[in-house]
Amino acid sequence: MSESISCTTHNATICDDPSEIWVWLKEWNTDQVIILTDENTQKFCLPEVWRDHNVQHIHSIVIPAGELYKTLDTCGHIWDELHRLRASRNSLLVSLGGGVVTDIGGFCASVYKRGIRHLCIPTTVLAQADAAIGGKTGIDHRFLKNVIGTFYPPVDVWICPVFLQTLPQRQIINGLAEIIKHGIIADRKLFEKMEGVDAFNVNTIAPYIASAASIKCTIIDRDPKEQGVRKILNYGHTAGHAIESMMLSRGEDLLHGEAIALGIKIEARIAHLLGKLDNQELSRIETIIDRHFPILQIAREDITGLIDLMHHDKKNSNLKISFSLPEGIGDCTFDVFPSVEHISNAIEYYTV
Ligand SMILES: NC(=O)c1ccc[n+]([C@@H]2O[C@H](COP(=O)([O-])OP(=O)(O)OC[C@H]3O[C@@H](n4cnc5c(N)ncnc54)[C@H](O)[C@@H]3O)[C@@H](O)[C@H]2O)c1
Repeated sequence: MSESISCTTHNATICDDPSEIWVWLKEWNTDQVIILTDENTQKFCLPEVWRDHNVQHIHSIVIPAGELYKTLDTCGHIWDELHRLRASRNSLLVSLGGGVVTDIGGFCASVYKRGIRHLCIPTTVLAQADAAIGGKTGIDHRFLKNVIGTFYPPVDVWICPVFLQTLPQRQIINGLAEIIKHGIIADRKLFEKMEGVDAFNVNTIAPYIASAASIKCTIIDRDPKEQGVRKILNYGHTAGHAIESMMLSRGEDLLHGEAIALGIKIEARIAHLLGKLDNQELSRIETIIDRHFPILQIAREDITGLIDLMHHDKKNSNLKISFSLPEGIGDCTFDVFPSVEHISNAIEYYTV
């Protein structure tokens, strides 16, 4: 049985059985369906989608797995393949994968022949709860996160928890960071419910994914192009993206959600230093992150480099670093420009 999440910029459907997607697809007038996967989702998820269906007319494009491949080079490969397959404006590109696949697939679809339709079938917790929702597409450039991208809503997002069965536990927790973020910025009850859970696994996380996706839809409906309130979804990401960029450039093994988890703590501490978040609320945020994520500490000598990376953040204005900061669990503000000293002090708190 499928269930719809209310989202006006695009549809989002939670489904038990991926074969429902084919029923839906038949209603679309497309000359070609082309499925984009990475090497893991090709192996683990594509057979699930193809099960029981005659799909000889469907082509697939495969890219290497991981953030390191969310680049213009990979886009070149995807566009070459679309060209080889003679994709037209009447074709449908289906991104079947985690946030890397849905981000790059959406970006490639948005500019190929000035835009071909894009469907998201997210296969990680992170992509189901967050990345595939809302039509932000993007790629990294010179290790800077998502600096090239478009707003391009997919025609639909199909969230099928069955895909998560093959996801490693580390990836389940990786996605938890964005769900915790959604609770902190907009839903105190969700946060409190999560506080009551000692450990998340593939079976217990599904209802939280649905709640997070629904919160994101509600926020995006109010501000599809991030002119205002949508900025609160960036909580944890100004610091988190800087950490992720630094680690990526060093070849360190750090996942997006793991970087965001530390970003959530650093930015909560900035809010505390600015008098926006009291000690008790800060401590609850730190506790939930530390319960589920390995403690990541950064070196004191990296603070300057991290702040330098934050100067490239897309939300900045007038050369000042912009943050979205909690004013209590369930409440968040945006367009806050703390001093470099405050940012530095907050990071220092989590250094070795
Ligand atoms: N557009 C947005 O609004 C938005 C929001 C949040 C994050 N993001 C982006 O999302 C990306 C992170 O997404 P992610 O964590 O899903 O990363 P990912 O796409 O790299 O997936 C993580 C890993 O899991 C593998 N995988 C995916 N599905 C699987 C499955 N069902 N079984 C087994 N393995 C599977 C992938 O091959 C990959 O190795 C980042 O690039 C981030 O910037 C975008």
